[in-house]
Amino acid sequence: MAFESLDTTSESRKHTAISTRLLIIVSVCILVVSFTVGLLIGIYGVKRESKSETKDGVFLDGVSEAIIREEDHSVTDWIFQEIKASNIRENLRELVKHPHVAGTPKDFEQADMLRNFWLESGLDDAVVTSYDVLLSYPDDVIPNIVTIVNTTNNETVVKSPDKDKNLTSEENTKEFPFPYLGYSGTGTVKGPIVYVNYGRKEDFDAFPPNVSGCIVLARYGRSWRAEKVKLAQERGAVGVILYSDPADYVAPWATDYYPDSIWIPGTAASRGSIFMGNGDPLTPGYPSIDSAYRYNETDSEVGFIPNIPAMPIGYDIAKQILELMGGDPVPDGWSGKLLNNSSYKFGPGFQDENLEIELSVHGKNERRKTYNAFGIIKGEVEPDRYVLLGNHRDSWVLGAVDPSSGTATMMELSRVLGDLVKRGAWRPRRSIIFCSWGAEEFALIGSTEWVEENSKVLDFRSVAYINMDIAVTGNHSIRAIGSPPVFSAMYEAAKKVQNPNESDSDHLTVYDNWLSKKPLKDPDTEEELGIPQIVSPNAGSDYGPFQLRAGITCADFRYRQDYTGDGVLFYPLYHTGYETFYAVDKLIDPGFKYHATIGKLSGELLRDLADSKIIPFNMSDYVLFMEHYLYAFQHNASNEIKDYNLDITALTDAIETYEKEAKSFHEVINKINQNNPFELRRVNDQLMQIDRSFLDPAGLPRRQQSRNVLHSVTDYNAFPAESFPGLKDALYRLRENKTEDTIRELQHQFTVLVFTIQSAANTLKESTKFLRHSPK
Ligand SMILES: *[C@@H]1O[C@H](CO)[C@@H](O)[C@H](O)[C@H]1NC(C)=O
Ligand SMILES: *[C@@H]1O[C@H](CO)[C@@H](O)[C@H](O)[C@H]1NC(C)=O
Ligand SMILES: *[C@@H]1O[C@H](CO)[C@@H](O)[C@H](O)[C@H]1NC(C)=O
Ligand SMILES: *[C@@H]1O[C@H](CO)[C@@H](O)[C@H](O)[C@H]1NC(C)=O
Ligand SMILES: *[C@@H]1O[C@H](CO)[C@@H](O)[C@H](O)[C@H]1NC(C)=O
Ligand SMILES: *[C@@H]1O[C@H](CO)[C@@H](O)[C@H](O)[C@H]1NC(C)=O
Ligand SMILES: *[C@@H]1O[C@H](CO)[C@@H](O)[C@H](O)[C@H]1NC(C)=O
Ligand SMILES: *[C@@H]1O[C@H](CO)[C@@H](O)[C@H](O)[C@H]1NC(C)=O
Ligand SMILES: *[C@@H]1O[C@H](CO)[C@@H](O)[C@H](O)[C@H]1NC(C)=O
Ligand SMILES: *[C@@H]1O[C@H](CO)[C@@H](O)[C@H](O)[C@H]1NC(C)=O
Ligand SMILES: *[C@@H]1O[C@H](CO)[C@@H](O)[C@H](O)[C@H]1NC(C)=O
Ligand SMILES: *[C@@H]1O[C@H](CO)[C@@H](O)[C@H](O)[C@H]1NC(C)=O
Ligand SMILES: [Zn+2]
Repeated sequence: MAFESLDTTSESRKHTAISTRLLIIVSVCILVVSFTVGLLIGIYGVKRESKSETKDGVFLDGVSEAIIREEDHSVTDWIFQEIKASNIRENLRELVKHPHVAGTPKDFEQADMLRNFWLESGLDDAVVTSYDVLLSYPDDVIPNIVTIVNTTNNETVVKSPDKDKNLTSEENTKEFPFPYLGYSGTGTVKGPIVYVNYGRKEDFDAFPPNVSGCIVLARYGRSWRAEKVKLAQERGAVGVILYSDPADYVAPWATDYYPDSIWIPGTAASRGSIFMGNGDPLTPGYPSIDSAYRYNETDSEVGFIPNIPAMPIGYDIAKQILELMGGDPVPDGWSGKLLNNSSYKFGPGFQDENLEIELSVHGKNERRKTYNAFGIIKGEVEPDRYVLLGNHRDSWVLGAVDPSSGTATMMELSRVLGDLVKRGAWRPRRSIIFCSWGAEEFALIGSTEWVEENSKVLDFRSVAYINMDIAVTGNHSIRAIGSPPVFSAMYEAAKKVQNPNESDSDHLTVYDNWLSKKPLKDPDTEEELGIPQIVSPNAGSDYGPFQLRAGITCADFRYRQDYTGDGVLFYPLYHTGYETFYAVDKLIDPGFKYHATIGKLSGELLRDLADSKIIPFNMSDYVLFMEHYLYAFQHNASNEIKDYNLDITALTDAIETYEKEAKSFHEVINKINQNNPFELRRVNDQLMQIDRSFLDPAGLPRRQQSRNVLHSVTDYNAFPAESFPGLKDALYRLRENKTEDTIRELQHQFTVLVFTIQSAANTLKESTKFLRHSPK
């Protein structure tokens, strides 16, 4: 069907009932005739075609020529034209009317809503599936509170509010769960208060007093919140209070706060999970299906579930606590912005020794069902090859940014593609699966369990996963996450999408703006390399299980705010009760232009991956990153390389071999007969498998679920994805404690890395030439 005919106008609706009937009769006749003609063409046409001079492929009776068809580029324009900011806005408004925490009735309602939406939008199928997993909730009735009491007269000097304060008409706080941290220990504890800066290892190490028996006050940022609580617990603290300091979440020049601006107000408590592990805590490594063996929460196989109480507070209360604290002033860099002209103090305890702080946390960890929803467009030629695009659905409160900005955008993209499929105007070469994950916020649970359950299918058949969490936090620039094979496709998509900042005539495309704002630099010379930055996937969203465990190439686009120079660590309203529709509609993206842009970018990338005859991966793009990783390692570990005889030449050789094989592989692609479906399938399989070939099946030491040897989170810092994570961990352990064990681990991990790069290179070699020649 021609593209122009896609545009529905109201014309057809003007026909009377009679002419409609006439139209149906005529249409049926036309259909019958075209079917017959089609059949004849199908029977005779293809055969005749196959004998023509222009094609030298083999064509079989009944096999459509579509198997060697080119991708349909006109779909790109259609996506760009049809994605409507106003639809995304309406989707978001609906999605964030109520809190939708995983495992609550809203979790199922929204999953079911998406299933219906996908079916109505014209997708081929849509399903909702569930897992029975360990989640965590605050008490319905008793709030979590921090109080400071003056023991001389039993007066309450400070008491944290029970609930988020209602600041606009949207915070219907009656239905908000009490502020809490998922999987916190419960109970009421007392002890001297101590301030530990960001609560990182280096902060605890620098801290002079002994935190054992104390309640720890730490600011958010610079490390994962779960890590702060774990370190506190390991050092004997009895409780943890976390807060967002304006030094980290408000620009120094800001004069007003939400609801007048995006800056975090003093009443905002940022929630989050403090479980450290992957997926359902009770079924590590395996899916939480009905028959699954479940560990007890207290078993050592389960990741870290804290047993001390911990809770988040707003900075209004943190300020009151800090003002009362005693002890020595903290060193430079430790004070936030809450006290005027005086430094924060370490504690322990208060200036007035009669004051006593108490932390009281109520709630429970509980097994509940959480839901994943899927919408499927079956591929025309290679239905058993999947390109996935997904986002989580669960939020801590209303979640207008995290995650619903992404879900609202994904819905609009799926509507546009579903519409094409429904009209028979287009069907992608490969299958597209839209995914909506449950319980991401708790530990990437919905996606992890699903990847675990379907690991064989995904391993053999999945091409890529595009994540869409947090679509927009501002309008400054793209922030992209991805694995090197898909970089070039991400760049190509960004080159096609118009820069939504219309007054910026110097940068006409998203790519131009991205390159000017976030150029990739050489780690050695700081020289700009002429391409924009893309960050390696960590475990921060649902790409974690796909990339790090399953070796499925991932990508994620976001439009972000510019915090450079302001010292602001992340979008300020993150995980608070103030992630409202109002915040997005009035403060973050009025007009939803940037949401639409993310929809177009991800949509074009999805189209490209799903419809291109040859998967648009570039195998060579790993080389630059391996070289950067190698550079960093050689600089960081020059002593260890020498002391423990690490054969750097073997590593550089492996990278060079990979480089050479990648280059010749692309030459092979250029030469294959693209009319031969077997050749297409062969190179596509090699492309599709590339990230799988960088997995160590045994997993990284102590983290069997992280298997990617090139980039992953590390043991000692779960926040960023680090290069050569197995080596980084080993180095770290060795530097902590030089023993035979730690030396052996470094040497072992080094050889695992070398071997894995070599074996990835082997997957690119000509079919039968992968064998190694041993010297005589
Ligand atoms: C605690 O109470 C005592 C006695 O009433 C009073 O002197 C003191 O100022 C109070 N401390 C604070 C910090 O309110
Ligand atoms: C404070 O309260 C405690 C327990 O509620 C009680 O034992 C104590 O006598 C009270 N002290 C004063 C000064 O009221
Ligand atoms: C929140 O405040 C608005 C006025 O700003 C009011 O209309 C609304 O009823 C309040 N909601 C709750 C739950 O208190
Ligand atoms: C810290 O204090 C606890 C109890 O107060 C004590 O058992 C422990 O040995 C102390 N640790 C250090 C390193 O001083
Ligand atoms: C888990 O183990 C603890 C301690 O052994 C026990 O008290 C608890 O009942 C167990 N929980 C379950 C769900 O089996
Ligand atoms: C700091 O002092 C100024 C001027 O006295 C006052 O307006 C402001 O509220 C104070 N800020 C804090 C955080 O105490
Ligand atoms: C803080 O210090 C500045 C300059 O030293 C002074 O002007 C200001 O009044 C001080 N503010 C407070 C609240 O002490
Ligand atoms: C960027 O966002 C700010 C804050 O919402 C807004 O004032 C500005 O107009 C936006 N700029 C563009 C080009 O969209
Ligand atoms: C939009 O472009 C104009 C002109 O280059 C620039 O001054 C402005 O900062 C840009 N706005 C954003 C949000 O990037
Ligand atoms: C792949 O990327 C390399 C640079 O990393 C480039 O030289 C090459 O032309 C690209 N190949 C394809 C097929 O795009
Ligand atoms: C190596 O990296 C670690 C961790 O990032 C850092 O603490 C250390 O200072 C670095 N050492 C060298 C020699 O660069
Ligand atoms: C170093 O490791 C050895 C062997 O595991 C252990 O006995 C020793 O206590 C460790 N030392 C430190 C400082 O952790
Ligand atoms: Zn999220």
